Amino acid sequence: MYINNIKISKFRNYDTLDINFNKEINIIYGKNGQGKTNLLESIYVLGMTKSHRSFIDNDLIKDNNLAAKISGQLINKNIPTKLEIIINKKEKKLFIDKDKISRNSDYISNMNVIIFYPDDLDLIKGSPNIRRRYLNLEISQLDSTYIIIFNDFNKILKIRNEYLKKINNNENYDQNYFNIINDIYIEKASLIYKMRYKYIEKINDYCTKVYNKLANIDNFKLLYKPIVNFSNYDLNNIKLQLKEKLDAMLKVEIKLKNTIIGPHRDDFLFLIDDIDLKKYGSQGQQRMAVLSIKLSEIEILKKYKQTTPILLLDDVFSELDSKKKNNLLKYIKKSIQTIITTTDLALIDQKIINNAKLIEIQNGTIKKIREVKKNDKK
Ligand SMILES: Nc1ncnc2c1ncn2[C@@H]1O[C@H](COP(=O)(O)OP(=O)(O)OP(=O)(O)O)[C@@H](O)[C@H]1O
Ligand SMILES: [Mg+2]
Repeated sequence: MYINNIKISKFRNYDTLDINFNKEINIIYGKNGQGKTNLLESIYVLGMTKSHRSFIDNDLIKDNNLAAKISGQLINKNIPTKLEIIINKKEKKLFIDKDKISRNSDYISNMNVIIFYPDDLDLIKGSPNIRRRYLNLEISQLDSTYIIIFNDFNKILKIRNEYLKKINNNENYDQNYFNIINDIYIEKASLIYKMRYKYIEKINDYCTKVYNKLANIDNFKLLYKPIVNFSNYDLNNIKLQLKEKLDAMLKVEIKLKNTIIGPHRDDFLFLIDDIDLKKYGSQGQQRMAVLSIKLSEIEILKKYKQTTPILLLDDVFSELDSKKKNNLLKYIKKSIQTIITTTDLALIDQKIINNAKLIEIQNGTIKKIREVKKNDKK
């Protein structure tokens, strides 16, 4: 799939912008602080309804305006779709071809985007909630039922916590009702465990090879680390083991008035030869690890959705040595729409530049556009 055009208004430092993209390589360049990342972010938000770098939607709205709007034309398997998102201070409105979409799960997974950006290392170095957020977003792109299950899970988790509080306070409570809550909790939590496990398994089908191609090192993989040590991920087994663990921990959970056993406590590790890259990996190894799993996602989308996602590369060329840069570029050439930002065109191979549409951004406006040089076109 690729994005043909995007129109944004009152988004970050942009007042209005209307821009067409090439279906292969696009390079957005300009000085620091001009709006290159903001433009990439708008594409990400259009697909995922959330920013990759800000948890707060209001940050996306320009200065003191009431709402930001992003719309774009997506082409997937030759079929055009218009996507639109309006973010105001209270809510987000989503549209597909003019129809208002009320459920997130009906919107996400239409447009697949994969972004690589400098702060991505937080995925390894940061706290587990960053990794869980990542898993949630990526699984949602592949399977929108995940969003529904995840929302149900959060609802029942809240109810369970309220009930634990009641029990702790010795308020009147109905044991049967608690059992029902617990059963629903186990049902939803188990599905999430299973889907997350399966997703990590899918990444592992590719990432060792990808890492090897980028950095010539074997045995890179992810390890799913839920708080319960499941012996296997058969759904019935997950339910059984989760129930055992919850029963064993009930007293503690009542004391804490909080559910501590569940996928909201999940984590996963990045390993090379069973060594944890979070603790022992070098910056370069960590960077390659993140890049490898993101490139693996491309393969996953290709295999399971028969489409390629839109690849967004924010300022990644300044941080890679030339060998790794070339390895990365090999991936880019594989007919996948790629939108790259850079402050310095000299960091990018001349061949790539000749085959790219160049867009210069200055202070939230387009300063210059150069289409692909026809003679050099492959
Ligand atoms: N909500 C907002 N309203 C107005 N301006 C904003 C908003 N959010 C960010 N900005 C402005 O956007 C600019 C940064 O844009 P962006 O991060 O896209 O820069 P960049 O071109 O990627 O720069 P660099 O090369 O340093 O990465 C800053 O000047 C910042 O003040
Ligand atoms: Mg930037």
